[in-house]
Amino acid sequence: MKAQLANCIAQNIKGLSPDEIISLLEVPPKPELGDYAFPCFCLAKVMRKAPNLIAADLKSAMEGQLDFIEEIQIQGAYCNFFIKKELFVKSMIESACTENFGGSSIGAGQSICIDYSSPNVAKNFHVGHLRTTIIGNSLYKIFTKLGYQVHRINHLGDWGTQFGKLIVAYKTWGSKEAVEERGIAELMDLYVKFHEEAENDASLIDQARGWFVKMEQGDEEALAIWQWFKDLSMVEYHRVYKLLGVEFDSYNGESFYRDKTQAVVDRIQKANLLKQSEGAYIVDLSEYNMAPCIIQKTDGGSIYATRDLAAIFYRKETYQFVKCLYVTGQEQKLHFAQVFKVVELLGNDWAAEQLVHIPYGLVSLEGAKLSTRSGNIIYAEDILLEAISKVKEIIEEKNPTLSDKDAVAQMVGVGAIIFNDLYNQRIKDVSFKWEKILNFEGETGPYVQYTYARCSSLLRAVPDFNESAPIDYAVLTDLTAMELLKAINKFPKVVQDAADKYEPFLISRFAIEVAQAFNRFYNNNRINVPEVSIRNARLKLTAITRRILRDALDLLGIQCPEQM
Ligand code: ARG
Repeated sequence: MKAQLANCIAQNIKGLSPDEIISLLEVPPKPELGDYAFPCFCLAKVMRKAPNLIAADLKSAMEGQLDFIEEIQIQGAYCNFFIKKELFVKSMIESACTENFGGSSIGAGQSICIDYSSPNVAKNFHVGHLRTTIIGNSLYKIFTKLGYQVHRINHLGDWGTQFGKLIVAYKTWGSKEAVEERGIAELMDLYVKFHEEAENDASLIDQARGWFVKMEQGDEEALAIWQWFKDLSMVEYHRVYKLLGVEFDSYNGESFYRDKTQAVVDRIQKANLLKQSEGAYIVDLSEYNMAPCIIQKTDGGSIYATRDLAAIFYRKETYQFVKCLYVTGQEQKLHFAQVFKVVELLGNDWAAEQLVHIPYGLVSLEGAKLSTRSGNIIYAEDILLEAISKVKEIIEEKNPTLSDKDAVAQMVGVGAIIFNDLYNQRIKDVSFKWEKILNFEGETGPYVQYTYARCSSLLRAVPDFNESAPIDYAVLTDLTAMELLKAINKFPKVVQDAADKYEPFLISRFAIEVAQAFNRFYNNNRINVPEVSIRNARLKLTAITRRILRDALDLLGIQCPEQM
């Protein structure tokens, strides 16, 4: 309809193409202003006429030309078009019922790498890693919906000098039993102990360096201890991934690139970019107002940046990505800017456009008291488990006879945290207040899930309702139904915008808008009424809403309980 309207306007106004008109057409903020509005002030200069006169002429020219237009009104410089309600409802319902509604095939045949989560082995999975995991997973879902083939890469921090330190600490003060029993918490304590002791005993640093060199040379004992630490860390990370419902296609972390960094160094040298400075090999980036990118240390040990360079070349060759996204905290901004610049300087023009750092803000735990396992360190797993147990308490209080309480508590508890994390632009800091996150009536995950469960229960109440049967569109021409349909029909644009801006919060805002619009519709209209044609039309809209809420929450990585 929008396209037909644009064509018709184009025929009546010289100088603008239908496409230009489509981009000018607005959806008015209030229904009293019609369904589409065309602003005429941009034509005033070219046509040398007052915009309100242009609008008036357009109105009289178009009168009666389109059979789906009920009325055209002039409001200042705007031509407001009112579409015949029934036809508008029909067209909105038809579009919302198309297959893969909200998605597209714009990414078909193209691949995208997303590097996210990527915790540091032997360290706890903290709230910052929770954010990259949640944002990365949502971006994976969004790009998949647009037809891209997405490779989910967990670039584990499983290599580097810190493992030398850990091996020394373990061999000096650790015990197998304690590590086996306490896992990462024990390794964290050993690591802290190492730094405390190293203040007075510099030889520890040398020993640690020695062990890391051994690791790089493939020493069996060193690698066995490292592998053990890595395995036990993975067990803990997998518990978090399971709670979140997150999976990866590759766990090739930093250690995977240890035999691929020399080739990078050679390449940089061949390109005449390698310089020696203060005992390290670097690429000078002063021309680009950046600190130098350190490539190799004096002792030949490889470093984080070099492994990232190796990873980029490996991924380009393996996946032929059109984009490689990195979801990490803002503090790594410079690191990625340097690495991307080096790739570009090596003659890869695609780097600037295809390598994208996606930073996010900090998490603050306002008033969220958490038990800590080790010092003041907060484990993501503990936050998730606490959310689940709090929801369980709420269910016990409000709906004790609910079946599958544990599964529902998990979906809602985890969903609440994910939703809160994705409710604002990612660069904004996230604050954490249980009362706010778990408020079933606020702008929260539980509120959307609750609305979904309400739709499900309405549909369950009429088991013989057939969604594909024709309906009477006139039933859905009341204001609340039309507003709900308009909200729903924003989905495709919202998904595309979320992908363009790498911003899942656009999806969470959309989910809230649809849920609120549904609840207004529901409060205004009894759904399960005796008149079949009314009931069926309202149930149809309920079924569509239910599906859209489920799809939107799925794009955020949140599941929906059928009852709550
Ligand atoms: N392990 C790093 C950290 O926890 C994040 C790694 C991000 N990915 C990368 N390719 N550098 O801070």
